[in-house]
Amino acid sequence: MSDKTRFERVSALCKKYQQEHLLAFYNQLNTNQQKSLLNQIEKLDFKRLPGWIEQYIKKDGALAIPTHFDPAPAYPPVPKTIEQKAKYAKAYQLGEDLLKQGKVAGFVVAGGQGTRLGFDGPKGNFSVSPIKKKTLFTIFGESILAASKKYGADIPWYIMTSPLNDNATKETFEKANYFGLKKKNVIIFQQGTTPNFTFDGKILMADKGTLATGPDGHGGSLKALADSGALADIKKRGIEYLSYWQVDNPLVYVLDPLFIGLHAADGAEMSSKALIKAGPLEKVGNFCLVDGKVTVIEYSDLPDKQAHRKNLDGSLVFELGSIGIHIISISFIEKLNIGGGFALPFHRAVKKIPHIDAAGNPVNPDKPNGVKLETFVFDALPMAKKSVILQTLRAEEFAPVKNATGVDSAEVTHQMMIDRAASWLESAGVKVPYKADGKPDCVLEIAPSFALFKEDIKDKADKIQTLKPQSSVYLG
Ligand code: UTP
Repeated sequence: MSDKTRFERVSALCKKYQQEHLLAFYNQLNTNQQKSLLNQIEKLDFKRLPGWIEQYIKKDGALAIPTHFDPAPAYPPVPKTIEQKAKYAKAYQLGEDLLKQGKVAGFVVAGGQGTRLGFDGPKGNFSVSPIKKKTLFTIFGESILAASKKYGADIPWYIMTSPLNDNATKETFEKANYFGLKKKNVIIFQQGTTPNFTFDGKILMADKGTLATGPDGHGGSLKALADSGALADIKKRGIEYLSYWQVDNPLVYVLDPLFIGLHAADGAEMSSKALIKAGPLEKVGNFCLVDGKVTVIEYSDLPDKQAHRKNLDGSLVFELGSIGIHIISISFIEKLNIGGGFALPFHRAVKKIPHIDAAGNPVNPDKPNGVKLETFVFDALPMAKKSVILQTLRAEEFAPVKNATGVDSAEVTHQMMIDRAASWLESAGVKVPYKADGKPDCVLEIAPSFALFKEDIKDKADKIQTLKPQSSVYLG
């Protein structure tokens, strides 16, 4: 097709869908810029555009929360009954067997913009560890390497980026020599994007030749796996389960045999880890049961009355919060993508979006001026025929770096890493010095190569020197 015909075709499409302004500066662009702009516009899902605009842009069309929902049941962090103990032991064994057989891969979603943290570059490059200042990617990479050695199988690691950080992420891995993993076992792929809109449904332009877009949310991972070819690679390798986590949480057990085993033993399609919320209004999604299906209701959607409801023992009725840790069966991802039409519902975020105005001048708004659309991975849970929840402990597994200061900041994560190391050492019989405020009176860091779980420390306890007050000890 000639450039002229192509332009005319795209121009007609824009007109049909009331987006003619996208080509307003076309004649001021050079040939490459023109081609790029046509490419961007052609990639838009025009057929769905009017629906999105009506449902999500002009109004907040989030699905109404159901009239009736119950708390979702979960496996406790530690088994209580004899039957549970037997089930956990069997599940742990099954999880280890699946890891040894190469049936499980790691999967981190790292395509976010990390605006709250305000860190320049991929969030995975943020340094978090207390002594060696290891980055998030380093900790995950070393964990997968340690797990590969422990289970005697090369465990592949899938990393989802976005157009904003894909190059920088690839450079990081290249420079770090893939953290000791084989390059062929580290698969970096990009998620999709969605256009940014004005409140009346016009797509914003970032500059004269570029649409304003953003990554389509962590829910985009379930589609991007298929679209990018990662799913085909996963199938070729005979992998059956993905262990999914978010890039900002250095405490996550990247490959947890118990969680994998419970998911597989129960024939689940998508499972989740949960923790007891810090309070009724903690800003995490709430695990609920809707028509018998595990469903996450966002903190902002859970009515206050429900959020504060208590059981007779004083615990919250909706006490389980979602922390972005899942096991996902590959067959489930395939099922969702059959026919290529898979789409999760959008969540609408009103934001300040830099753009150009009708005269082509850059605008950096000081108040929200438009809408971004994102999908959330937990919205796939009700589509699973079976979904298991395993409760975990915050001190063990959840310390996300979200903000520059205060709640969920690097300072908190840093202290939680030290606290967990202290508790692991104590459980192995190592005496840890404590300050009057109950915090360890030393700086501790345990490398994944030394221990992936607290049980790994037990055999090594006699090799650990006595911890002196105010010392810094790195176990690697
Ligand atoms: P967050 O919800 O914390 O978003 O992502 P964020 O973009 O990283 O940070 P803010 O909100 O701008 O401050 C949770 C996880 O989901 C990933 C993030 O990289 C993080 O691991 N994510 C989020 C994606 O992979 N893609 C997205 O489009 C959004």
